[in-house]
Parts: sequence; structure tokens; C-alpha cells
Amino acid sequence: MKEKLEAMKNEALEAISKANDSSSLNDIRVRYLGKSGEMTLLMRGLGNVSKEERPILGKMFNDVRGEIESALESKTSIIVEQEKQARLLAEDIDVTLPSTFEGFGTLHPLSKTKKEIVDTFLEMGFTVDEGPEIETDMFNFQLLNVPKDHPAREMQDTFYVGDEMVLRTQTSSMQARIMTTQKPPIRVIIPGKVYRSDDDVSHSPIFHQIEGLAVDKHITMGDLQGCLEAFAEKVFSKDTKVRLRPSYFPFTEPSVEVDVTCSVCHGKGCSVCKHTGWVEILGAGVVNPVVLDMCGIDSKEYSGFAFGLGVERIAMIKYGIPNIKLLYENDVRFLKQFDK
Ligand code: DAH
Repeated sequence: MKEKLEAMKNEALEAISKANDSSSLNDIRVRYLGKSGEMTLLMRGLGNVSKEERPILGKMFNDVRGEIESALESKTSIIVEQEKQARLLAEDIDVTLPSTFEGFGTLHPLSKTKKEIVDTFLEMGFTVDEGPEIETDMFNFQLLNVPKDHPAREMQDTFYVGDEMVLRTQTSSMQARIMTTQKPPIRVIIPGKVYRSDDDVSHSPIFHQIEGLAVDKHITMGDLQGCLEAFAEKVFSKDTKVRLRPSYFPFTEPSVEVDVTCSVCHGKGCSVCKHTGWVEILGAGVVNPVVLDMCGIDSKEYSGFAFGLGVERIAMIKYGIPNIKLLYENDVRFLKQFDK
């Protein structure tokens, strides 16, 4: 029995020294020390040995078990460490490799244009306000001198959301809101979304406007012209000229349409300006005294100017964008061109 035990021990130790991964070490443990392993089988023979020999053999069994266990343990720790090193090597990250950085995002051309316009008026001392897109008929039309059934309603294809509620067709609605709640002096611009049932290469059912309003004593058309010239030079270019043409809006009297020299051809004539050298950029005028009075501002004491522009239109003229839809598709190849 001693010889068998000795032989089994040597066999086990040899297997352990040859093992080179943790799963074969585990197999060795099961094979020699497991419940029905070789050690257990040999121990069954203890029942047949003499009383004197039994404790001696018992101790030998314990010693052999101890020897195999400690050999397994030390080999296991070596292999675990080796396996860890191998794994680390395999998962190694080379921090010195160049990265696959795709570049930062940029402002959308509409956001960029809006920001430039807003900043220009902030520099001139205007403040910025905002208002609701679902608006009452009262603020969107009636207080702006457009009563129900007035033909001027035809100028804008309105989305009605109820008898008295509309999706605002113009940021001019904010003129009425501001004048009914604030006292002059007022100098404010209002950027925001507006809605009209209109859809082609230069119109979208949702688009962005910026409204401007100044009310104070002695405000004239000359003040409007000065502000718009400063605006045009800043947003287009220093040599940009401004031209006022008579027009009609119910809430301004007199009313004008404002053109600037084409920023693409600088007045020489091109497809953007339809070979006229001029492009129309906004509507404006002297606030109609009727509107001032309806909104609770005494038109004998105060006067004002107002203007409203389309941000898409300004961006399309400034960058020569032929189709308004390009501004909404978010095609990265298009957007990347404004990365300056
Ligand atoms: N609200 C007008 C429109 O959407 C634009 C406009 C014209 C605004 C004249 C004004 C203005 O403030 O005075 O067509």
C-alpha cells in the first residue's frame, strides 16, 4: 500500500508540474483528491491493514494529501499570475496611437445667423425677449390693426387652432404683448418660430423670424434706417448698402420693404439677386399710431419703429443657399461647410 501511495503521489506531483493552465490543475485535483478520486480508492484499503500499521499509514495518507494540496496551491498561484499577464498583454491599449477623433460639432447655419443678428442688436442697446408660439387672434392680428375679415389676413396663410387661437404667423404678435405690458422707452428684439401654410423652395411651414421694436419720444424713420444700416454692415459686409421701398403693413405707417446690395455679387448682378443687384431682406416701418393707442401707449407722446425679418431668408442670401429645405435636412456634408 505504501508503494502504491508513493507511486500515486509521484504521479500526481509530476502531473502538477506539467500542468500549464488552471483547468488542467482542477482536473488533477478531482482525479487524485476528489470524492471518488485515486486517494479515496486507496484509502478504502486501510480497512484491511493491521491495527499497528493503520495509524502509520493514516499519517502517510495525510502527509501525501498535504503535499499534493500544497503543490496544487503553489502551481495554481503561478498559473493564475501567468494567465493574468497574458490577458493584460492581449487587452493592451496603446495610448500613444493617434485617435479617431471626428472633430467638434458646429453651430447650425440658422443658429449662427440668428446669433449674429441678435448680437448686433444687443450691441445697439436692445434687449431680447421671447413669447408663445400658440397665440391669440388678439395679439397676432387684432391689436396689430388687423381686425377679423380684414383683407390683410390674406397676406399670411394662417393655421387656426381654434376660433380665437392661431399658431403665430409672425413674431409681430410680441409687439402687441410688449406694448400692452411695458412702458416706453422700449428697445427689444424677439427671435422665434412662426407658422404658415406655405411650402416651396423658399418657404417652409415653420420658419424663424426676428422682430424688432423701439418705442420712445421722437423716434423716426431715420432711426430705423440707421439701425438697419448698422445691422446690414455687421451681418453682411461693411460695403453693404440699404434701400427702403414704400410698402404696406397694417401695423406700420408708413411701411417699407428693405433691400440690401447683394452680398454674393456686391451689386453687380447674379442669380441670388435675380440680376438686380438688390435683395429684399425685411419689412419695417414707423409703428402705426393706431396700434400704439390700441396697446395703451399715447401716440401723441410716443412714436416707434418696428421691423421683422426671416432668419432663413437672411441665411440663404448670406451663404447663397438655393433651397430652404437644405437648412432642415441636417445633412452633415452641407452643415460642415459652415465650420469656420
Ligand atoms: N410681420 C411681417 C411679416 O411677417 C414683417 C413685418 C413687417 C414686421 C413690418 C414688422 C414690420 O415689425 O414693421 O411679414
